[in-house]
Amino acid sequence: MTACDSQKSGDASMNKFIDKLMDRMTLEEKIGQLNLPSSGDITTGQARSNNIADKIRAGAVGGLFNIKGVEKIQEVQRIAVEESRLKIPLLFGMDVIHGYETVFPIPLGMAATWDMKAIEQSARIAAIEASADGICWTFSPMVDISRDPRWGRVSEGSGEDPFLGGEIAKAMVYGYQGKGDSAYREKTNIMACVKHYALYGAAEAGLDYNTTDMSRIRMFNEYMYPYQAAVDAGAGSVMSSFNEVDGIPATANKWLITDVLRKQWGFGGFVVTDYTGIMEMVNHGIGDMREVSARALSAGVDMDMVSEGYLSTLQQSLKEGKITEKEIDQACRRILEAKYKLGLFDNPYKYCDTERAKTDIYTDEHRSIARRISAESFVLLKNDKQTLPIKKKGKIAVVGPLANTSSNMPGTWSVAVNMEAPATLVEGLKEVAGDKVEIVYAKGSHLMSDAAYEERATLFGRTLYRDKEKRSDIQMLNEALNVAHGADVVVAALGESSEMSGESSSRTDLNIPDVQKTLLEELVKTGKPVVLVLFTGRPLTLTWEDKNVSAILNVWFGGTEAAYAIGDVLFGNVNPGGKLPVTFPQNVGQIPLFYNHKNTGRPLAEGGWFEKFRANYLDVTNEPLYPFGYGLSYAQFDYSDVRLSTDQIDRNGMLTASVTVTNNSECDGDEIVQLYIRDLVGSVTRPVKELKGFEKVTIRAGESKDISFKITPEMLKFYNSDIQFVNEVGEFEVMIGTNSRDVKKATFSLK
Ligand code: NOJ
Repeated sequence: MTACDSQKSGDASMNKFIDKLMDRMTLEEKIGQLNLPSSGDITTGQARSNNIADKIRAGAVGGLFNIKGVEKIQEVQRIAVEESRLKIPLLFGMDVIHGYETVFPIPLGMAATWDMKAIEQSARIAAIEASADGICWTFSPMVDISRDPRWGRVSEGSGEDPFLGGEIAKAMVYGYQGKGDSAYREKTNIMACVKHYALYGAAEAGLDYNTTDMSRIRMFNEYMYPYQAAVDAGAGSVMSSFNEVDGIPATANKWLITDVLRKQWGFGGFVVTDYTGIMEMVNHGIGDMREVSARALSAGVDMDMVSEGYLSTLQQSLKEGKITEKEIDQACRRILEAKYKLGLFDNPYKYCDTERAKTDIYTDEHRSIARRISAESFVLLKNDKQTLPIKKKGKIAVVGPLANTSSNMPGTWSVAVNMEAPATLVEGLKEVAGDKVEIVYAKGSHLMSDAAYEERATLFGRTLYRDKEKRSDIQMLNEALNVAHGADVVVAALGESSEMSGESSSRTDLNIPDVQKTLLEELVKTGKPVVLVLFTGRPLTLTWEDKNVSAILNVWFGGTEAAYAIGDVLFGNVNPGGKLPVTFPQNVGQIPLFYNHKNTGRPLAEGGWFEKFRANYLDVTNEPLYPFGYGLSYAQFDYSDVRLSTDQIDRNGMLTASVTVTNNSECDGDEIVQLYIRDLVGSVTRPVKELKGFEKVTIRAGESKDISFKITPEMLKFYNSDIQFVNEVGEFEVMIGTNSRDVKKATFSLK
C-alpha cells in the first residue's frame, strides 16, 4: 500500500466514523462543536462564557483554551467524555507561541537565527512540554509579514520577508505536528494553528487591529506566501484575523477563506476565529450578532472563539434561511476530523499523562537547548574596536532597569511560564563570568519617566516593581554613574519591557525610552566602554546609540535561558551570528521601510544623497540604519565575486551561483550567506531584490568555504497582474552577500 493509499483508507475509516457520529447528533450538538470558550484561566479581551462545565455536559462546547495543568484538563475532559450525551472529547488549545515552560526567544528573535533546524526543534520541544501538560492544539505559528515596527505584534512573527517567513512557517508546523503521514502520531505531536489569516501585519499606521488595504498583486507577492507554506506543510487549523481585507473583515471573508484558502491552496483543516472575532464584526459595522455569525459560517469559518455568536444565533439563522444545515454540518465535520486525527476518539486522555507532566517539562535538556538557541538569536549591531567579547577579569558594571528582572526575560506571549523562574541578567552574567570578575549592579533609571505609560507597558504581571522603587531618577542615575566610574566596562541593559511589544502594544516613538536614554548618554560620558544589551520586541530607532555606544548586542527577549545566553555571548563562549529579519530604520518617519521595495521612476543613485526631484527625503537618507539580513560576528567574513555555472537558462534549466566566503579572523564563527534575485524587466514592476535562498555555515578561523545556490525557473515566478503565478523570460541579477545591502552581483537570463 502506498502512503497515499493508506491515507485514503485512513480517510475512509475516519469518514465512516464521523458519518455515524453525526447521524446521532442533534442540531444543537453540532453547533456546540463549533463553540470555543476560554476557560477563564488566562483571558484577554472580554470573555462572555460562563458555566462552562454545564455547557460541556450539554454538548455545547467543542474545545477550551487557556486552561493550564494536566490534572485540570483531565477533569474537564472527563466531564466531556463521561457526562455529555455523545461523549465527544474536547480540544484543549493554548497560545504556546515560543515555548511552553521552557521558553525560547520571541518569534522575531527565532527568525534572527535563520536556523530552520533550531526553529523546528524549538517547536518540537514546545509541543513535548505542552502535550505533557494536557494541550493538544497551539495557536501558532504566527506568520504575519509586517513592515511596520510601530505594530507591537511584529515581535510575534518572522519579520518582513515572505520567503524567510515561509521557511519558518513550515519548520514550526513540522515541529508541532510532525511531518506528512506521521503528523499527530505521537502523543507529543500537537496541532498547529496558522495565524492571523490574513494580512494582520499590515495594519494601517502600525495600530493594532486596524484596517488593512492593499492590491491583490501585493497581497500575493508579498504577504500570502507564509500562510500558504504553513498550509502546504499540513497545518491542521487556521485562525482568521481581526482586520478587514478588501473591505470585509477576514472572519466573514468568503473569498479569503473559501476561495483562496480552501479551493486554491487545498486547505483541509478547520478555521477558527480570533478571540471574539465574530462579535467584533458588529463594531466593524457589517451587522448585528445574528448577521455576523451567519456571515462567518457562510464564509467558511468553523469555530467561534469566545463570541458565542454561533451558539446563540445559528439555529435562528437556519430557520430564517440565512444559512444552511449543510454549512453547519461541514463546520462540525471539520472539527470532528481534527479530533479524530489527533487520536482523541481513540483515547481522549492521550494528552493527559500525569507522569509526563512531571518529567517532560522545563527539563535540563530542554533548557540547555533553549540557551544555545537563545544565543543564536542575538544580533550584534555594532562592535567598535572589539569591545566584545568582554574579558573574564576586572570589574563590570551592569546597569539598567532591565538588568535585574526575571519577568522581562521570556518576552510577550509566554503564558505557561513561571515568571519568577528565569535568571536575571545580573545572575546570568555572574554565573558565566566566574570568580575572576566582579559584577556590580545599579538600576540607573525607571523604565520611563511617565509612570502611567510604564504601567500600561508592564500589564500582564511582568512588572518592574516601580511601586517598590522609592528613589528618584536622579538618585538612581547618580548611583549608576558611581558604579560605572569604578568599573572597567559598563553593560547597559536597556530597551523595552516585555509587554511594550506584543498584542495591543503599538508605539509611535521607537526610541529607547527617555530616562533610559539619559542614563545611556551619561554612561557614555564616563568614557568607559559601554556595551548596550538591547531588549526589544521590534526594531527601535538607534541612530544616536549607533554613533556613540561602543557595542550593541540586540538580545530581543531571549526566553527563560536568556540571561545565561547573553553571558555566553558577551564573554565570548559563543560567537554571535544572528541576522536581522527586519529592517531597522533611522527614524520613525521612514516607516514603512523594507529591503524588497520597488524602484521609483526617479530613484536615487545607490549610496547617493539628496537630489532635487528624486525620490528622497530632505532630512534623512533613504538608507535604513541596519538593513534586513544585517548582523556582525566576532569573526570577519569576506566574500569573493559571484560565480555562475552559466549565464543563460531555459525553462527546464537550472544554474548554480557560488561564492567563496573566507573567515579572515582568529575565531570560528557562523555566517548566514544570503541569495537575492532581481527580475530586471517584467510585465509588472518587480522589487529591487528578493531573498531567494540562504545558508547558515560555520567557518573556522582562517578557513574558506564555497557556498552554492541552485537557481531554478520556479524561483523566478511571481504573481502577474492577472494573479497568475508565472516566470517571464529576460534578465535577472543575482546578489549574494552578508546582508541585503552588502552584496556581490552577477547577471543571467531566462530564455
Ligand atoms: C488574540 C490573539 O490575536 C491571538 O493571537 C491569540 O491566539 C488569541 N487571542 C487567543 O489567546
